[in-house]
Amino acid sequence: MSDTNDKNATNETLAQHVLRALETYQDESERGNTPALHQQEPEFLNREMGLVKWIRDGGLNASNYAQFLTPYLEHSQHMHHPGFIGHQVAVPHEGAAIADMIHGVINNPMAVYEMGPTASVIERVVVNWMLEKCGWYTGAIDDFTPNAANGAKNGAGVLTHGGSLANLTALLAARAHAAPDAWQNGTPDNLAIIAPAATHYSLARAVSIAGFGQSAIRYAPVNALEVLQPEKLEQTFLQAQNDGQKVFMVSTNACTTATGLYDPIDEVAEFCESRGLWLHVDGAHGASALLSGKERHLMKGISRADSLTWDAHKMMRTSALSAAILFKDQKAMAGTFHQDASYIFYGEDQIGFDAGLYAVECTKSALGAKLFWVLAMEGEKGMGDFIEKQYGDTRAFYELINAQDDFTCPYKPEANILCFKYEGVDGNAAQSALREKILARGNFYITTAMIGGVRYLRLSVMNPLTTVETVKELLAEIRLCASEPSG
Ligand SMILES: Cc1ncc(COP(=O)(O)O)c(C=O)c1O
Repeated sequence: MSDTNDKNATNETLAQHVLRALETYQDESERGNTPALHQQEPEFLNREMGLVKWIRDGGLNASNYAQFLTPYLEHSQHMHHPGFIGHQVAVPHEGAAIADMIHGVINNPMAVYEMGPTASVIERVVVNWMLEKCGWYTGAIDDFTPNAANGAKNGAGVLTHGGSLANLTALLAARAHAAPDAWQNGTPDNLAIIAPAATHYSLARAVSIAGFGQSAIRYAPVNALEVLQPEKLEQTFLQAQNDGQKVFMVSTNACTTATGLYDPIDEVAEFCESRGLWLHVDGAHGASALLSGKERHLMKGISRADSLTWDAHKMMRTSALSAAILFKDQKAMAGTFHQDASYIFYGEDQIGFDAGLYAVECTKSALGAKLFWVLAMEGEKGMGDFIEKQYGDTRAFYELINAQDDFTCPYKPEANILCFKYEGVDGNAAQSALREKILARGNFYITTAMIGGVRYLRLSVMNPLTTVETVKELLAEIRLCASEPSG
C-alpha cells in the first residue's frame, strides 16, 4: 500500500488520498450536498473518467488520481444521501468498509481453510450465530467440532456471494433430499416446487439452472397483496399431483421484494409437515427481523423450516455481497454438492474445515468478516435496534403519506418497504413518469413496483438518515413534478 513512488508533494500515498476523498464523499452525501443520483449517459461517463486512456497508458498515481476518482464518485449512486430510498441494498456501515479494505490487502479467498484460516473461523462463528437466531443451533457458537461428529444436533450453513446463490444452493439441497441420485443421473422430470408468483426471480432462475424447467414451478395462490395463502396450498399440491408432478418443496418470502410483506411461515410449515415437504424461506431481506425482539414475530415458524436465505448486505449493513444459506439439518447441507478435487480438498485429517465443499463458488471472498466487523462495532443489540428503527420509521412514513388527501398506500408496511401512489395523476405510466422526473431532479432516488397490475412508487428505507422531514420534502417534490408539463 505504501509505495513510495505513489507519493505526491504532500507526501501522502495514493491509498491515503483515496481514503480522504472517500471521507469527503460520504460526508457530503450524508449532508445532502450532492445529488442522490445524477444520471448520465454511458458515453459521457466513459469520457469523464477517461477509461480508455487509463487502460492503454496506465500511470494513475497520487498526483493525478483525482482525474479519475472525482468523476467516478460524483456520478455514482450516493447511497449515504438521505434521499437514497431506492433499492434494498445496505448503506454500508463503516465496519464493513474496513473489512473490505483489509480483504483487499490480504486477499484470503477461503474455499479452503488453509487459504483463509482467520476468515474461515469468522465465517463459522457468524454462521452459527445466524443459526442460533433461527433456533437451529444450541450451545457455544464457537464450537469447532467437525459437523459430522457433533451429534448432528445443530444446523449448518455457508456464506455465499448473494442471496441468488443462496437460493440456488437451497434448491439443490432440497433436490438432493428428494432425489438423492439426481447429482449423478440428472433432475427427475416430474419434480415440482410450490412458490408464490412474487418469489424473487433468482429462485425461478435457479429452477431452470438446476434442470427442472419453469413448468416445475406451481404458483401458490396469493391474496390481493401477493401474500401466500396457506389454506390454499393443499389445492395447489393436489393439482400438481393430478398433472403427474411430485411436489418436493415450498418456498415462501420473508419478505417479498416488491412490498416487504411476509408470507405466514408458521402456517406454511404446518402444511409442509403434513405432506413431508421441504420448506424454504427466502429471507434475503427480511430475516434480519430475527434480531429484534419487537419484529421477530414476522418470522414466526422459522424454526420449522428447512432452509433460509439471509442477506447481510441488505439489513445487516454490510457492503455487497455477504449472504448466508442456512440449513436446519446439517446433513442436508452436506448432501448438496459432490465433487472430487484432489488438488484442493484434502479430507478429514487436515486442520480446520473447507467452506468450498458446500458452496457454488470456489474462490470466495472473506464474506463473514464484513458482518463480523459490523457486529463487533454495534453488537447484536445494536443490530436489532437498527432493524427496529428502520421498520418503525417506515411505519411513521406510512402514517404521514396515508394521511395526505392526494396520496394512498395499498397496505400498512410490515418491513422497511413502503408502496404508495400519487392520486393527482392517472394510470400506471403516470406513476413511472413521476419517478423519472424525481430522478432527473437528483434529490431522491426511489423505485416503483407493480402490485396486482397497479404501479406504485416504492421506498426501501435503508438509510438511517432518512427522516420524516426527508419524506415531506419528497411528497412536495412529487406534487411539483406532477404540476410540471411532461416532456
Ligand atoms: C427476496 C429476495 N430474494 C433474493 C434476492 C437476491 O439476492 P441477491 O441480490 O443478494 O443475489 C433478493 C434481492 O433483492 C430478494 O429481495
